[in-house]
Amino acid sequence: MRKKTIPVHAKKHSAGKKPAPVKPKSRQTDSRKSHAPLGLSSQNKIIKLINSSLNIDEVLNLSMKLMEKTLNATASSILLYDAETNELKFYLATGSKKDILKVIRMPADKGVAGRSFLTGRTLLIPDASKSPFFYKQVDDTTKFVTKNLIATPIPIKGKRIGVLEVLNKANGTFTKQDMQKLKNMANEISVAIDNARLYDEVKSAYIVSMLNMAQAEKFRDIDTGLHIERCGEYALHLAPDLGIPQKDFDNLRVSMMMHDIGKVAIPDAILLKPGRLNDEEMTVMKTHTTKGGQILGQAPLLQLAVDIATCHHEKWDGTGYPNRLKDESIPLPARMLAIIDVFDALLSKRPYKDPFPPEKVKEILLEGKGTHFDPQVLDLFLQRYAEMCVIHSSMS
Ligand SMILES: [Fe+2]
Repeated sequence: MRKKTIPVHAKKHSAGKKPAPVKPKSRQTDSRKSHAPLGLSSQNKIIKLINSSLNIDEVLNLSMKLMEKTLNATASSILLYDAETNELKFYLATGSKKDILKVIRMPADKGVAGRSFLTGRTLLIPDASKSPFFYKQVDDTTKFVTKNLIATPIPIKGKRIGVLEVLNKANGTFTKQDMQKLKNMANEISVAIDNARLYDEVKSAYIVSMLNMAQAEKFRDIDTGLHIERCGEYALHLAPDLGIPQKDFDNLRVSMMMHDIGKVAIPDAILLKPGRLNDEEMTVMKTHTTKGGQILGQAPLLQLAVDIATCHHEKWDGTGYPNRLKDESIPLPARMLAIIDVFDALLSKRPYKDPFPPEKVKEILLEGKGTHFDPQVLDLFLQRYAEMCVIHSSMS
């Protein structure tokens, strides 16, 4: 089975248009920060990386590889300060011992890194074995032999948050020019970390406000409340099969829960009408997709939620609404929800119908394979069918 991945930020749709391929969004950096040359092309590459990705680990890993290449270093690491324990811990490391390093912590006043952290100075150690600051315990644990290194503090807004190190120059020893280059790199990395932290804070605030909105929707209709909570849960159980990374789960769950937020703009006479809707009422009801997109679309960080709210009634064969999008032009999370939404509705009691038995629901879902539903996503969903039925009964 082909694995699919979900973009962290999906694209915006306009009526009738096939969406363009996803590109990472740009992010702001502090343009006031300018530094002495790292090697202009290398520095440009790093700035470009920082600007083009919201994934902090990806930025830091690539930055470190580039830095090693520029400085001819064998290994490098980023240590971050833990104020609770007064230790420096390896946040990221490259080289053959990177996995062992991740579990090592060292007192913040020990070693070359500790010295650099405490004094705020960039330290060049041409021969580690002769340095009074060298903390041999790390080498003893990892069996790595440190010959020479540079350590420089990572500053954020006047505070030091950790240390950046490069180790063992491949040809000879590090120079004062290398020191300056590493210092410049630490400043760039600090921008990336600061941006990522700000981004996370803003994202958390948005998620909280989304949950508040979902609560408002729940109070209007108790059936809807249970339905949206189950939708979030089904999606989390299906997500790993579709290659969706765990870091996106919170956003995915909340975005799934928000799929019918546009119903807050539908008159009660239609939304709560017992029995079937006539054509005119159905036309109004269908606008909950675009209205949901408009409500959520004010915030760029909610793009995933916008995609789901707008596109969850699109169909694989292009006969859905509101934009008659077809197959993979429908965002993957919306294709997931199309299945989840119908599954849950059929299995639940509604004012106008009794619940269908699980086997009958499966039959109906299979009838929609390749027409209403993405066939591959449906297959994956059905592989977990028993699990999904348990979620339904335990959350009803
Ligand atoms: Fe809907």
